[in-house]
Order: sequence, then structure tokens, then C-alpha cells
Amino acid sequence: YTAELDLSDIGKGTYPFYMLKEIDEQPTVMRKLISTYADENGAMKVDAEIVKAVQEADRIYIIAAGTSYNAGFGAKIMLEALTNTPVELGVASEWGYGMPLLSKKPFFIFLSQSGETADSRQVLVKVNELGLPSLTVTNVPGSTLSREATYTMLIGAGPEIAVASTKAYTGQIATLAFLAKAVGEADGKEEAKEFELVKELSLVAQSIEATLSEKEKIAQIVKENLLTTRNAFYIGRKQDYFVAMEASLKLKEISYVQCEGFAAGELKHGTISLIEKDTPVLALISNNPEVAAHTRGNVMETVARGSSAIVIVEQGQEREGDDIIVNAVHPYLSAISMVIPTQLIAYETSMQRGLDVDKPRNLAKAVTVE
Ligand code: G6P
Repeated sequence: YTAELDLSDIGKGTYPFYMLKEIDEQPTVMRKLISTYADENGAMKVDAEIVKAVQEADRIYIIAAGTSYNAGFGAKIMLEALTNTPVELGVASEWGYGMPLLSKKPFFIFLSQSGETADSRQVLVKVNELGLPSLTVTNVPGSTLSREATYTMLIGAGPEIAVASTKAYTGQIATLAFLAKAVGEADGKEEAKEFELVKELSLVAQSIEATLSEKEKIAQIVKENLLTTRNAFYIGRKQDYFVAMEASLKLKEISYVQCEGFAAGELKHGTISLIEKDTPVLALISNNPEVAAHTRGNVMETVARGSSAIVIVEQGQEREGDDIIVNAVHPYLSAISMVIPTQLIAYETSMQRGLDVDKPRNLAKAVTVE
């Protein structure tokens, strides 16, 4: 299965919806990013000035909205590990009304598919007034956030037309991986030198392809569990929790199922009271032995209260009866591969409910008002 899609094509082709086309384009986006940000020997090709600016920072602030905000979380663990710099996330619409106490040498990263989100721009204006360095990671060259930030890194995912963002999420995390490795290497960090990003991202592309070939199975899971429910939960720990936030946003946006992304261990401190007979609980379990067994324990707690559990597991942690198995990738990049089944689940739920997948009610692709 290797559908090499042309990223410059803005038609839907034989696809019923743009969202499905854009989901399918993700392996191509990963491979294109490899050729953009690495040379043929696997060395990083990231603007030296950006690398230097991040090296000089004592804290990285990622500002974004919606799916881009979740992408920031998807990259946080990797960024901190490779750059040795704390990463703080800010919801753009909140930070626009006043910044929290900043560190002494902050570096701002604006994540924005469109580069036009007014909430994010409001923060960038303040950052510029303070004379602080910034980087916009965007899919749209020449966009407002790109023009107004100190630096830009392009995702190059090709036009994203469906309102629900998919390839921009995975593309943003992958782009930040190149930045993180380049900074870590410049700092002489062993961990960064040993992280073979080109190889690992190629494996991610293959893992995505393997998941894309499970569409029928995923459609069946949706039919059995999500067709009529009004609510659902995604749970996970650590990196999986961050993916759970994005997975639940995707489901909410296009299928109108009220869905919460929850830290698996936090469920028992209140929210588990919402679990009743047949409430779908979708668990994300990546190959992190430190947390996998604990998340399974949390799944069992909900099953004991009648939930219908769907387990999405990364190879290495699979057990009999698990629903979707995702091919293993490097732990830094698991947010990319683990989100794919959840994109397909959201797509299928919307489709099977007969909704307009690409143009959900009340939403716009780029929100240019605060
Ligand atoms: C809108 C879209 C979301 C998107 C968010 C941020 O609300 O509906 O899908 O995630 O804006 O957009 P950006 O272009 O800044 O990533």
C-alpha cells in the first residue's frame, strides 16, 4: 500500500471528502519533510539562525489554537528531551489577554496551519512589542503569522481544505522534530545525535500506511460503538494523553459526539461517574511499558462500570482482544502514528452519521476574529 499523492493537487479526485484525502496524504507529507529538512546523509537542514535562537533560550513557549495547540503537546516531550529546554504551552485566546510571568530568555513558537488565526496573532503582536524572538511553524508561506514572526519553518503539507485538521497536526510535530534534533546536536547532546530522525520518520510513514490499510476494520468498530452514542472518552497517559486531547477534538468537531480526552489516571477522581452502560471509552496505549499497564487498569475500571472499551495499542504492548494495533515507532514520534486511527474513527463516525465531514456546523477553517 503506497499511495503517493500529489500534495499540490487541490482537487478531491475520487475521494468522497477532502478529509479522507488529507489523511491518506500523511505518509507523503512525512517523506517530503525528510527531503526538506535533511540532506541525503541524514544531516539536518534547519536554518542555523533559528537553531541558535532556540539554543540561547531558557524556555520555549508554544502558542496555538485548536488542533495546532494539541500538536504542540504532541511535540513537547521530544522537544524537552532533545533541547534540554522546558516547553510551556499557551492557548492563544487566553494569552492574548495578558502573558503569565515569562522566563528570562523566552523563545516563542507559533503553530498555525493557516498562519492567520487572530488569537495567535494577538499574542505575536505582544511578543514583538517586547522584542522577543519567535518562530512560526505554518503550512501557508507568506501568511500573516509567518510574515510577522522572526523566523518561519514551513510544514509543506499541501493545501488542507477539510475544516478538521489532520496532516497539519502530524506535519507540525514532524517539523518540530527536525528543529529539536538540530538544536540538540548543536548543543552536543548525545541523545540528539543518536536519534536517527530520517530513519525513524520513514518508519512513521510506514506505520501510517499500515494503519490506513485498516479502514474497513475501523469502520466496523465505529458501526458497533459510536453510531448512536452522545458521548465518549479518549484516555491515555503521558504522550498518549496528549494524543487523546487531539483525538477527542477531532471526534467532537465533525461527528458532534461529546468527547473528552482524559489523563487515564485522573478519571477515577471524578469523571468516571459519567461512565454508564455502553459509554465508549477509547484507550490509547503506546509502547511505553512505564504507563501501559496502568492505562489498561484504568480501562478495566471503566469496563467494570459498563463501558464499551476500544483499545488502540502500539505494537509491543498488544494483548489478545485489542481492537487496533499500530506499528511501533520511536517514542518521540508516537503522537504521529497513534493519532492516525483516531482521525479515521472521527471520519467514519461523521460519515456513518450522514454528516458533512468537510464542513461541520459552526466551524471555519481559519478564524480571523478574536
Ligand atoms: C480553527 C479550525 C481548527 C484549527 C484552529 C487553529 O478553529 O477550525 O481546525 O485547529 O482554527 O488554526 P490554525 O490555522 O492556527 O492552525
